[in-house]
Amino acid sequence: MVQKIVIDTDPGIDDAMAILFACLHPELELVGLTTVFGNVTGDVAARNALVLVDIADQDIDVARGSDVPLVQDAKPYAWEFHGREGFGDLPPREPQGTISNLTAAEFLCETVNRNPGEVVFCAVGPLTNLADALALDPSIAEAVKSVVVMGGSLDAGGNVTPAAEANIWQDPHAANRVFSAPWDVTLVGLDVTHQVICSPADFAGLARAAPTIGGFLDGAAQYYFEAERNRNGMDGCYLHDPTAVIAVIRPSWFRHRRAAVAVVETGKRVGATVWADSAVRHPVSVCVGVEADNVRRCFLETIRSGF
Ligand code: BDR
Ligand code: CA
Repeated sequence: MVQKIVIDTDPGIDDAMAILFACLHPELELVGLTTVFGNVTGDVAARNALVLVDIADQDIDVARGSDVPLVQDAKPYAWEFHGREGFGDLPPREPQGTISNLTAAEFLCETVNRNPGEVVFCAVGPLTNLADALALDPSIAEAVKSVVVMGGSLDAGGNVTPAAEANIWQDPHAANRVFSAPWDVTLVGLDVTHQVICSPADFAGLARAAPTIGGFLDGAAQYYFEAERNRNGMDGCYLHDPTAVIAVIRPSWFRHRRAAVAVVETGKRVGATVWADSAVRHPVSVCVGVEADNVRRCFLETIRSGF
């Protein structure tokens, strides 16, 4: 079976890994990218999505979304991990393609309404576009097959503050709307992504096996490795966004807990994801365990199969 997927993204180095993985995996049909501020500005995110489509040599629609969060003032971009241009130290490139005439929210609504029950949204950036799409057409909650989110941390602490994971911290109000809507949401947060790690040697191997795609990812990842070395003293990087895409096609590699989740919207713990009462809020599936070796191997084998 081939699964249709739209990735909502703020590319970003691990976003690039996730998107190129989706372009190469035979069980995924990437029907579009929607872009959002987050790791980088909205302009850079949109440009980088087009650049990734060029690198994959595929014809994939790219729709530009939000530049700012729904309610709160904008937080700083994640330049420390991704660089100002989004792909580490790699120089910015001019893309060949152009942005869709539709906004990200319009594209999300139109795509699911054209393919009811068939499309998965995989969101790997702040959730602003998904919240905007819900506001534009609440019926997409029934039309979408499911929503898989890289974001949050229930028991693993934060990565941008002690309490919060970056994607949720960037737009907590949007996350609350997405988590409480009546659609099927799976959270792939730090509880599992912090177990899925690749080394510099893994990426050097990708560059040898697939010089264009693997070479690009290896080049971008050097900056990511340096940031992790400085921040956490680790020799490798987390596969945050690829893990969410892999959860779309291999849910059995994850242990889920079904419960409601809410997001702290203000104060010192802003962006924290907390267990909530399922009697009053729609429950979501939170990934609390992962077969990390399988996820890592699946990522590496798929990128190695590229060119
Ligand atoms: C998430 O934040 C971003 O910096 C990454 O691209 C990933 O989506 C990890 O917390
Ligand atoms: Ca991301």
